[in-house]
Amino acid sequence: MSSIHPFSFAGDNILTEFIRDKKMSKSLPPPGTSDIFPEEAASWRFIEESAIKIFSLYGYGELRTPVFEYTEVFERGIGGDTEVVQKEMYTFEDRGGRSLTLRPEGTAGVMRALLNTDVMNGNEKRVFYMGPMFRGERPAAGRKRQFHQVGVENVGHVAPELDAESILMLMHFLEESGIRNSKLQINTRGTAEDRKPAEEKLREHFSKSETALCEDCKARLSRNVWRILDCKQPQCQEFINSAPDATTFFSPETRGYFDKVCNALSAGGADFEVSPRLVRGLDYYVHTVFEVSHPGLGAQNAIAGGGRYEIFLPENKKPVIGVGFAAGIERLLMARESLDAGLPEKGPGCVFLAALGEKARDFNMALASKLRHAGIPVIAEVDIKSLKAQMRAADRVAASFALICGDNELEKNLIVCKNMKTGEQTEMESTSIGEFLKSIGRWHE
Ligand code: HAM
Repeated sequence: MSSIHPFSFAGDNILTEFIRDKKMSKSLPPPGTSDIFPEEAASWRFIEESAIKIFSLYGYGELRTPVFEYTEVFERGIGGDTEVVQKEMYTFEDRGGRSLTLRPEGTAGVMRALLNTDVMNGNEKRVFYMGPMFRGERPAAGRKRQFHQVGVENVGHVAPELDAESILMLMHFLEESGIRNSKLQINTRGTAEDRKPAEEKLREHFSKSETALCEDCKARLSRNVWRILDCKQPQCQEFINSAPDATTFFSPETRGYFDKVCNALSAGGADFEVSPRLVRGLDYYVHTVFEVSHPGLGAQNAIAGGGRYEIFLPENKKPVIGVGFAAGIERLLMARESLDAGLPEKGPGCVFLAALGEKARDFNMALASKLRHAGIPVIAEVDIKSLKAQMRAADRVAASFALICGDNELEKNLIVCKNMKTGEQTEMESTSIGEFLKSIGRWHE
């Protein structure tokens, strides 16, 4: 288990969290989490459906893994030196004494699941996933404690063309999601062998200014010097900017691999920038890493990130290899909002059944069931109310039609159909109402 208390987060301690929580209304969701109401859910579904559509075009199938795993899966999978494992995991002991952790990201759990398939024999598997992830970070705009990712993993096979295809698929997905103006940065992290000489050069460089570095970077100097390149503290920027380009110390093979990725990306029409300081915050990456940012977000402007990886899991000496990425849904929605991107046109709103009297209400209950089985969305009034109040209710639910029925209409097998947009009313036989409504069409979209 992580040596730091699982519920003390980056810069916070349990006491400050406790005091802050005391002041919070318990009718609000806990800090860093949100309720997603139906009005917003349509945009969420749009992103999720865009993901399913595009990832399927590249041969990916959905994999659903548990939201919690044995803690070791993340400690070993992501790397004990990362901020995520050191400071951000929601770790708890279950009643059986197991140490479990809410997944802070999807990749390690997906690899754990795929260990039991033939990917370890070099057979390629393409999977995508979506759902909530949990990181105990300090909440801010675009930084949540429960956030949601859509992600993909191409597992079991190594080829620079696959790295490029993964990146091109990400850009295709962003395009489908209506997200323009994003910026793609890529880099190579090399292999473990490549990193040794580069690491020495970096340590040499940062040691010269050790006293001027932030406290975290001072510790990183001996523990994991690469993390310094990722530091956002103003006092460290000058030294990060003057750091040597680590990739120049990598082997010709590694640089050749990266050139192939860049060439395949250019051939695929991607617009990208090579950024030698891009290291990413998770320790499993080898070779290609990439990140996409968007100008419509504030400080937390990474909307997606990924790369090629080698992931070691508990009880396994051989790593699982693959390439993939994840995008944060909350941040994709923020990017869409900054672009004022609309949703595809929806089908007509629901049909509202208004009843004048108890008999009509009973009739409406049966009619509602018939219409719903015919694929037409219906809301039926169940209280006895004035027609005016019922029309107000129909407006509130944005109904496209109201069907009005009273004793008179019942006797004659008629129903009044009111077009809520134009106000036009037509009387028609109640048996033909289903056909009429279906002829208006497109209720499911
Ligand atoms: P990551 O960069 O840690 O990578 O997260 C991917 C994306 O999740 C980020 O670019 C961001 O959009 C979103 N995200 C991360 N943390 C938060 C947060 N606290 N609040 C809101 N959104 C957040 C991974 O998770 C890797 N597993 C990606 C990957 C897949 N690499 C290879 N395969």
